[in-house]
Amino acid sequence: MLLQHDDNGRGPVVVLLHGFPFDRSMWASQVEALSDQYRLIVPDLRGHGSSPAPDDRVYTIDAMADDLIETLNALNLHEKVVLGGLSMGGYIALSAITRYPDRFMGLMLLDTKATSDPPEIARGRGITAEQVESSGNTETLVEGLILRVFAQETREHKPELVESLRKVMKSTSPRTIAASLRGMAARPDRMDDLARIQLPTLILVGADDVVTPVSDAKAMAERLPNAKLAVITDSGHLAPLENPEASNTEILSYLKEL
Ligand code: MLT
Repeated sequence: MLLQHDDNGRGPVVVLLHGFPFDRSMWASQVEALSDQYRLIVPDLRGHGSSPAPDDRVYTIDAMADDLIETLNALNLHEKVVLGGLSMGGYIALSAITRYPDRFMGLMLLDTKATSDPPEIARGRGITAEQVESSGNTETLVEGLILRVFAQETREHKPELVESLRKVMKSTSPRTIAASLRGMAARPDRMDDLARIQLPTLILVGADDVVTPVSDAKAMAERLPNAKLAVITDSGHLAPLENPEASNTEILSYLKEL
């Protein structure tokens, strides 16, 4: 499925995949900071933002990775690109890199992890998916996510940032939320795949991330043959949004070394 996307700047191509249940607008600071040297392609994942929402009951991570490849093909982009993904976007990036290794020259794993869901978490996602779908109401989920994805520091000092992400999350449909939750619950464990990824990899994580904590980032860094780990202060699960200055410095220095 073709994804709606922004395409800004010229130079080596960098593709950034947003997390759940956000949209491409979360990358505004990165697009601004990088697009004078790089071509930034930032899609809305299926069902999110302005991309089409197929009827499927489950949006598998592999299907979302296939959407990305289809979109790159439609852009005639046959050169190798750098792929970055935050959280669910990172799960998708790992699926794409593992299944289409020839398409990529670098990998950025931002506030994400390579393990699958433990059974009780996967079950919980299934229950939430049913609730959201049958009630058509995503408010409880959105307010719960606000508390989990932002560092307390961000919630106290950057209310406008919290409000703008709340708006994005509220505009994501119950169907997309349910199908994505089921897809994440069904994703495979990719820890054993990491050892085979030879690409230079930046692993970036907010110091106060409680969704995919620093320990998950360290576990990936230990398995990947060619990884650098950057821990971003004053950030929870959304380091590129919460502390864009520090995140962009790390991203730019990683990209320069490629
Ligand atoms: C995300 O930010 O994409 C999600 O919180 C990831 C997850 O729920 O595993």
